[in-house]
Amino acid sequence: MTQTELDQAVGEVLIEQLALQSRIAELGTEISADYAGRDLLLVGVLKGAVFFMADLMRELTVPCEIDFMAISSYGAATDSSGVVRILKDLDINVADRDVLVVEDIIDSGLTLSYLMRNLRARKPASLEVVTLLTKPERREIDVPVRYVGFEIPNRFVIGYGLDFAERYRNLPYVAVLNPELIPNAT
Ligand code: IMP
Ligand code: MG
Repeated sequence: MTQTELDQAVGEVLIEQLALQSRIAELGTEISADYAGRDLLLVGVLKGAVFFMADLMRELTVPCEIDFMAISSYGAATDSSGVVRILKDLDINVADRDVLVVEDIIDSGLTLSYLMRNLRARKPASLEVVTLLTKPERREIDVPVRYVGFEIPNRFVIGYGLDFAERYRNLPYVAVLNPELIPNAT
């Protein structure tokens, strides 16, 4: 992408790089204390959570492993339908494991709700969620989330793993997508 395309896509910066780093360090401290004496299995949801997960994991002091799932929800580019399909399943058996699902963002909650039901059926010892971002105004279904990085307003955001049509994941901060790029902007 050219610099001009980038400049046109990126709106207001909601969370600067330094703020992300320091909040993730706090989450790492909190999670390490909560899971002291246990082994943690981090389950990342591809692809957006990869960036957050990599940084969070380096702030953990408990023994931990990672695995990934890829899921796709049918629907428009910026809206979740809640109809979810598993594209890639876990390699590691989660039965009797302390599982922490790592999400980039919770919007309607429909994707996560499906995922939690699916994972719970595999009988983990414990199952919790950490999300970098949440948009409480958009929630359609209640999902218990143990750790939240930041609550954000109802805007479509890009950067630090979050994409618009697969672009802009590499931005080191979280910014609002220029609404002119979204036909049915929220
Ligand atoms: P939910 O099922 O509505 O909670 O949607 C969750 C998924 O939608 C996230 O994992 C993201 O992939 C995507 N998503 C929701 N809001 C945004 C956003 O503001 N920017 C980029 N992706 C988003
Ligand atoms: Mg996505």
